[in-house]
Amino acid sequence: MTLPGSPHLAYRGASLFIDGCAAASLAQRFGTPLYAYSRASMLESLADYQRALVGRDHLICYAMKANSNLAVLQAFAQAGCGFDIVSGGELERALAAGADPAKIVFSGVGKTRADMRRALEVGVMCFNVESEAELGVLSQVATAIGATANVSLRVNPDVDAGTHPYISTGLKGNKFGIAHEDAVANYVRAADMPGLRVVGIDCHIGSQITDSGPYLDALDRLLDLIEQVEARGIPIRHLDLGGGLGITYTDEAPPSAEALVRSLLERIDARGHGHRKIMFEPGRSLVGNAGVLVSEVLYMKPGREPNGDPAGAGKNFCIVDAAMNDLMRPAMYQAWMGIVACNLRDEPATLCDVVGPVCESGDWLGRERELAVHAGDFVAVLSAGAYGMTMASNYNTRGRAAEVMVCGDQAFLIRDRELPHELFSGEHLLPTA
Ligand code: LLP
Repeated sequence: MTLPGSPHLAYRGASLFIDGCAAASLAQRFGTPLYAYSRASMLESLADYQRALVGRDHLICYAMKANSNLAVLQAFAQAGCGFDIVSGGELERALAAGADPAKIVFSGVGKTRADMRRALEVGVMCFNVESEAELGVLSQVATAIGATANVSLRVNPDVDAGTHPYISTGLKGNKFGIAHEDAVANYVRAADMPGLRVVGIDCHIGSQITDSGPYLDALDRLLDLIEQVEARGIPIRHLDLGGGLGITYTDEAPPSAEALVRSLLERIDARGHGHRKIMFEPGRSLVGNAGVLVSEVLYMKPGREPNGDPAGAGKNFCIVDAAMNDLMRPAMYQAWMGIVACNLRDEPATLCDVVGPVCESGDWLGRERELAVHAGDFVAVLSAGAYGMTMASNYNTRGRAAEVMVCGDQAFLIRDRELPHELFSGEHLLPTA
């Protein structure tokens, strides 16, 4: 039986497997909470994009904020990917994993001068500039060190991606990008500023988008702008359509990456822009379904009224050792993520809320789930490969989880579990009198 999202996650008999490794065995060997990823699943998701782009000048820049473990970055770098980064920290991670700086695009509304300088020194491919003010600062930083910064303006096309308000980024009221009404004027300015070279245009309209309509709308707006900008004698070499393609958490049915890209290319060709370099910045769709968060059931806590209201005194709790600090998505976006037992039991399931040990009522991983589990069993939160570990915190002085990469029937530890003393090793007591 396969589970939603990835063929790399399936039951063999009663046991959940990630490729050739049983989830429960990984939990026993590496401890819990544990993030486990299938490398094959990640590379297949990438191949889905690549198939549609064969024979085109293109670059896929993995949005590493989705999962920035060095081994994940290494796998994508070796497969020819570039990276979309949003901080100086991400730049250093990408370089440490072997990324080619000439394939790195630097996005984000708040780049610091120090970040810009470092990115120029290592020779990133381009800066996705998000405001007029940023253009001015980038020009100053570049001229001060005698460099030229390649720039692409991130345009806010004002299209509704139809997704959660916290992850919708292409609407007028969002902080992201330059309003499309102001884009041409900013290109004209940028083309005249010292230390800058205009090379492209980009947009990113949101995340977990399950329909190609908003992408096509945004694309049309970008093509309109390219035509206006080039009519003013400023060539635009590349067109970057951002990331945002959704995955299946429950019953969402997003287009495949291949289908989405093909429909965009068809429009690009139809409007006579087929000669341009095409770029994408996918995050979630490359890694989301490739990972699970494995956790041990610590306690079953039945409701006070066994047959009472499951939302009130009848509510049962399944208390696990993973919490909101390990996986923020449910608490932060009320995100629904699948939760399954790593070993199926032949007994009736109980309706329960799966919660963690953190001292917050918002600390839940799943509500009203049917699970047949006992204390000591392992459960897996599905589709946790994106925005899981990268959003983890140390709240409640909880060390962050370990991570393993499954390659066929082998599992490699790709990040050590954090130990308590490491969490406060950078803190200092005040001098005593
Ligand atoms: N490019 C830019 C400029 C972005 O801001 C993002 C994501 C991406 C690419 C990649 O988007 P993706 O393909 O992963 O949708 N923490 C949220 C998602 C935040 C996305 C932020 N930007 C979540 O857990 O749902």
